[in-house]
Amino acid sequence: MSNIKNAKWIKPKRDYGDICPEYRYRFECNKQIKSAALEITAMGVYEAHMNGSRIGDFILAPGWTVYHKRHQYQTYDITHLIQASNEITVTVGKGWYRGGFLTWRDKNFWGAVPGLIAAINLIYADGTEETITTDRQWLSRESSIRFAEIYDGEIYDASFQSEEWEHTSYHFSPVDNLIPQEGEIVCEHEQIKPVEVITTPKGERVIDFGQNMTGYVEFDIEGKSGDRVVYTHAEILDAEGNFYTENLRSAKQRIEYICRDGFQTYKPHHTFMGFRYIRIDEAPDYIDTDAFRVIVVHSDIRRTGHFECSNEKVNKLYSNILWGQRDNFLDIPTDCPQRDERLGWTGDAQVFVKTASYNYDINRFFVKWLKDLAVEQRSNGAVPDIVPDIIQDMPVTSGWGDAATICPWQIYLTYGDKTVLENQIDSMTAWVEYIHSRGEEEYLWVGEDQMGDWLGLDAPEGTYKGSSDTDLIASAYFARSTEILAKALKVLGKDSTYYENMHREIVCAFQRRFKEYKTQTECAISLVFNLAQNKSETAAKLADMVRSNGNKLTTGFLGTPYIMEALSENGYTDVAYSLLLQEEYPSWLFSVNMGATTVWEHWDSLKADGSMWSTRMNSFNHYAYGCVGAWMYETVCGIRIDEDLPGFERVIICPKPDERLRWARASVDTRFGTIKSGWTYTDGEIVYEFELPVPALVEIGDRQFELNAGKHTYRSN
Ligand code: BGC
Repeated sequence: MSNIKNAKWIKPKRDYGDICPEYRYRFECNKQIKSAALEITAMGVYEAHMNGSRIGDFILAPGWTVYHKRHQYQTYDITHLIQASNEITVTVGKGWYRGGFLTWRDKNFWGAVPGLIAAINLIYADGTEETITTDRQWLSRESSIRFAEIYDGEIYDASFQSEEWEHTSYHFSPVDNLIPQEGEIVCEHEQIKPVEVITTPKGERVIDFGQNMTGYVEFDIEGKSGDRVVYTHAEILDAEGNFYTENLRSAKQRIEYICRDGFQTYKPHHTFMGFRYIRIDEAPDYIDTDAFRVIVVHSDIRRTGHFECSNEKVNKLYSNILWGQRDNFLDIPTDCPQRDERLGWTGDAQVFVKTASYNYDINRFFVKWLKDLAVEQRSNGAVPDIVPDIIQDMPVTSGWGDAATICPWQIYLTYGDKTVLENQIDSMTAWVEYIHSRGEEEYLWVGEDQMGDWLGLDAPEGTYKGSSDTDLIASAYFARSTEILAKALKVLGKDSTYYENMHREIVCAFQRRFKEYKTQTECAISLVFNLAQNKSETAAKLADMVRSNGNKLTTGFLGTPYIMEALSENGYTDVAYSLLLQEEYPSWLFSVNMGATTVWEHWDSLKADGSMWSTRMNSFNHYAYGCVGAWMYETVCGIRIDEDLPGFERVIICPKPDERLRWARASVDTRFGTIKSGWTYTDGEIVYEFELPVPALVEIGDRQFELNAGKHTYRSN
């Protein structure tokens, strides 16, 4: 039974300002309970307790959706917590709903009220039922959480003496936008201990946890009332070894804790941070830095992919990709977890979704976010650059909006479940029709401002936009999205002829208009999207460009996901490996050599001399360039999806080894079992080993053969 829609939104009678309200309700249970469930959500983020025990594991519930249209509520089984006399308490923080700078512009984007709505459904052993819903009998008061915001951290006063409870009032807000929990819950994961306590040249006391990550710090202290423990979080130390926070821009990432007397343990309630280091800004001398530990927090996605090879630096890169994913999969896919952004940039998600879907089971996570993408779509089909769209008036751009087609298609391919396509097909169609309606040329997208190959290294001085032709990129993505839409319609048993024809027209128009590919990104995209008129010439040109650039790439956000595939699918696997194994700037392993523990936003977020790319936009935890992970699974070890039997009902295995790695192996958990593929160079031959829960089409060099499920070894000689 669900009763939350019969409940009413309540709020404190007066405005507590920055202070998080605490709500309370007491009730008796005089009969034997068979089951008890709590349905609850808030305008902000909530933490609920029943008789002193925390209800559920969801951190920052109810998560982030387009609240006005889709506001998730959670249902918790609380049978085990019910006693004869009961007290439920709930604190509500601002979260993504209300608060300061989250929107870069407006305060309180969705509303200013810390509303709460809940229903407690009791079923007694005698078969009778009772429901308690939020109403004016629920009380509120100021809590010890004196301040909590997503970017800025938390102020918690454990010595605060709560005032009397006050009656609440109704908040007249609709309930028809309430929906049951759809995504994965966000919860606590592993704990990380300090690896070193450093005194910086400036004299700052800094704890290094050895890993850039997302979550918060917990500590114990035998405290004295009024003593303060204040610390700030950062990702990196600067060239001199001092604590560096400039790249956080306005995000304070600061915790201020005021002790009560006695032993106490604290961790934040309504915020999270992206960091590797904390600087102790204020603390009593008796504090023990060993009593600090990080609790890693992210969506509860299950690890499904593994990759390992003989090169430890590549393994570190792979580990950085996994961390980057966990750190940025906190209810929605975000660009970064630290600076005053942490937003659902559609382009970043689109670029990384394939890798992400092999690393972890992200089906539910994306199904939820894509529904938000669809409801944020404008009536003309335009897809915003971020979802949920709290900026509102950003220009629509190719490569970002295409998340509307690329993400659902990848989720369908990896997991083989059509539901995501059924959910998204209207949104996919609307996006393609949006592009179709733009500009003078029916089958191209030209003449509009685009973000293009964002952060491409061939960007003219002082800009973020690589020098690749934005008309070419936009038209290429138009082709890609249309092709995906046609395939999706087919999968759903709908007529796809119109979009198949449209795709053909786009390819022709593209080839008439874009005859020459001047950058690595232009070549890579034209090859992988099957647009290049002369594939072998284009591939040779791309390989030349890379080689003559010292085996280094110049690609940005839109070219990087395709450059490896463009090379290895067209006869230049060796050049792709040269890019993977390149250690000088710019390259993936450059960041590894510079000590990266996550994937950076820029190829040179940290330069060889220890200086920073810039203070304005420099994240050390951006997953976009982690998109190379897909190439490790699909090409190094050759585990590929068969589009005709998606979800790995059948697998294509086409490993492409290179002697610069002595061995490599990867595995992907699928709903049919774990697929494993690996190879080793031994005594002048390559030994391939496969473990297949499903039949496979194997391609090794120019040999093709079919294998049944089972374990197989194949020798190149
Ligand atoms: C974000 C990016 C995003 C870009 C596009 C940045 O500020 O961090 O990852 O895609 O803006 O404008």
